Amino acid sequence: MRRKLILDVDTGTDDAVAVMLAALHPALELLACTTVNGNIPVEYCTENTLRVLDHIGRGDIPVYEGLAHPIARLDFPVPRRQSDHAGKYHPDILPVPPTKRRKQDASAVEFLVETYRKATDPIVLVAVAPLSNLAAAIALDAKFAARVPELVVMGGGHALGNVTPSAEFNIWGDPEAAAMVFAAGFPKVTLLPLDATHRAPITREHCAAMDALGTPAGQAAAAFIGHRIVVHDQHQRQPVPHSTPVHDALAVGFLVQPSLISTQRVHVAVETQGPLTVGRTVIDLLGRGSGVPNCDVAMDADAAGFAELLLRTFAAKA
Ligand code: BDR
Ligand code: CA
Repeated sequence: MRRKLILDVDTGTDDAVAVMLAALHPALELLACTTVNGNIPVEYCTENTLRVLDHIGRGDIPVYEGLAHPIARLDFPVPRRQSDHAGKYHPDILPVPPTKRRKQDASAVEFLVETYRKATDPIVLVAVAPLSNLAAAIALDAKFAARVPELVVMGGGHALGNVTPSAEFNIWGDPEAAAMVFAAGFPKVTLLPLDATHRAPITREHCAAMDALGTPAGQAAAAFIGHRIVVHDQHQRQPVPHSTPVHDALAVGFLVQPSLISTQRVHVAVETQGPLTVGRTVIDLLGRGSGVPNCDVAMDADAAGFAELLLRTFAAKA
């Protein structure tokens, strides 16, 4: 049986690759995408998600739009976005044809709450964006966390930050929401921080191979990832020449190939106060605190396995 999942995204170049992997991998059944403010304002995230799904022949997958702002910091994205890194990596509109579809009428948060309230089969929730929709769902339904059998989050960092020296973008983008999520008691949480995603870079050579597949997904992935490589080369040069992490797609890859990451079971909390550390995931790798482990955290990833998975999946047509 295929694994059912819902993907919460702020599409975005690497989100787009995650969407295509989730929509095309034969072992997965992508029930819906939910969108949220993050890399770009939420209406662009929604438009991009619809476009990408249409482009790969999966216009049957519904898209629900979620929060336009973090749950507490209403000034984001306007003044905070101007100084952030996201705009460079994520154009407002991705280079795939416009959609003829519309988002669903219900909001992402209503959809999440109702879907998990009624679910009879296990549905994995994969969140690769600021956690605002999840926090709102927790606020709306006190049993929401308990109803989600498995949560996978791309976010945070232990040795690495990307938007500040100590914080990663998805957690920094709505720290109060992230703090709620990690304290909410989800029964099974896997976190893929930058420490893992940077261990699985995709290179210019991989992009050429994806482009050569000649499929809509292969060519779109090559364009999205190629853009990321150019920006990394200019602004955040990577140890592997001409490469980029494709953070969000690794979180989906983990669902079909758990051996892509190596995890440690530890306690994770989120800093919401410190002027230098706001949005930091405090990952208690050495067990120095008193928190009970609430999360399996990935600290390493299989780079070759991840590239092969993308190439294999994007070779097929929908
Ligand atoms: C995360 O931030 C976003 O820019 C990416 O889409 C990814 O989800 C990486 O820090
Ligand atoms: Ca994202």
